[in-house]
Amino acid sequence: MLDDVEAIRMVDKGNMGMMISSFPRLLKEAVTLSRGLALPRDYRNVKEIVVCGMGGSAIGGDLFKDLSQNNIPLSVSIIRDYDLPRHVDENSLVVAVSYSGNTEETLEAFKQAYEKGSHIVAIASNGLLEKACSKLRIPFLGVPSGYTPRSALPLLFIPLLKVAEEIGFPLVGEGELAEAQRLVEEYNNKLTPENPLSRNPAKQLAARLHGKLPIIYSMGHLKSVALRFKDQINENAKMRAMCDQLPEANHNEVEAWEKIDFKELLHVVFIDSRFKNPYLAESVNQLVSTIKREGVGLSMVKPLGETMLEEMLSAIIMGDWVSYYLAILRGVDPAPVRLITELKSKHDEKMRYSEKFEEWLFKSG
Ligand code: F6R
Repeated sequence: MLDDVEAIRMVDKGNMGMMISSFPRLLKEAVTLSRGLALPRDYRNVKEIVVCGMGGSAIGGDLFKDLSQNNIPLSVSIIRDYDLPRHVDENSLVVAVSYSGNTEETLEAFKQAYEKGSHIVAIASNGLLEKACSKLRIPFLGVPSGYTPRSALPLLFIPLLKVAEEIGFPLVGEGELAEAQRLVEEYNNKLTPENPLSRNPAKQLAARLHGKLPIIYSMGHLKSVALRFKDQINENAKMRAMCDQLPEANHNEVEAWEKIDFKELLHVVFIDSRFKNPYLAESVNQLVSTIKREGVGLSMVKPLGETMLEEMLSAIIMGDWVSYYLAILRGVDPAPVRLITELKSKHDEKMRYSEKFEEWLFKSG
């Protein structure tokens, strides 16, 4: 099935394969687009960065946080909720990210940030977020529409690097970004449906995961990548998956390998990294040997590249294609997210949040 390109196209009615293939091009586009983002000088005085978003719009925040850990002396937090924590105030930089620009939780967090007098910048393709930024004169970066939020990840993540640079913390230079982009482009070419299973590691991993419950482990700067992998399996393949991280998993989750239910239905994916301290490397070895001893299926994913950013992006493109091939094997169209869409519209019908936000906007500014 995975080598029948025509059959793949028949299942992929919403063109997700095309959107995943666009990832390297969108990385390039995002760099160009981000050059247009300029923040007022006083944004340099903030004490923390708070990224607000949900689902496909939030994960770029996690990547940013993972990458910024060793490079930015400010705390970075990701809020996937309606309410901002108490510590967010006029000295915080709140970055509201919503691909549609209409996600309720993100709009509410944006509204609270405005009322607290925080420094704000927003990223969206459209919607109420764009409208609010234009009315309230808040810095805004518009990104191209036409993708699913999750496949627009480069457009939502790369601008966060520009936000950091604008407030005085350049994280990744354009040269390093261009290198990473080239690597991802090359790797992507090896993972597309035209490449047969025998030479396509994404098809091979999908074949191993088909009919199993994927349990994805990662560590350090790849924590966000494991979460992305899980979310992509959920949304593209409409399938359950779990993820956990080391060293924490060795303090709780590891006990679940003591008495294993449905052993033959589990498959572990370990996203390894060349950037780990010797203590962490030993924790990885211990967990891997525990899982092997129990006879559970295990696949190691070794991300490509010389930098943390390259590891992150190459592991993401791999995970995206794996989730795509899992969808194909399950005969489900990867692009539509029927339940998410239905829940959002039922919720808005009942709660009338967008109306309330528009009323608030009318009175503000
Ligand atoms: C991903 C997806 C969801 C949305 C989330 C928030 O493709 O459909 O995870 O990203 O519901 O919506 P936006 O991104 O429009 O703010």
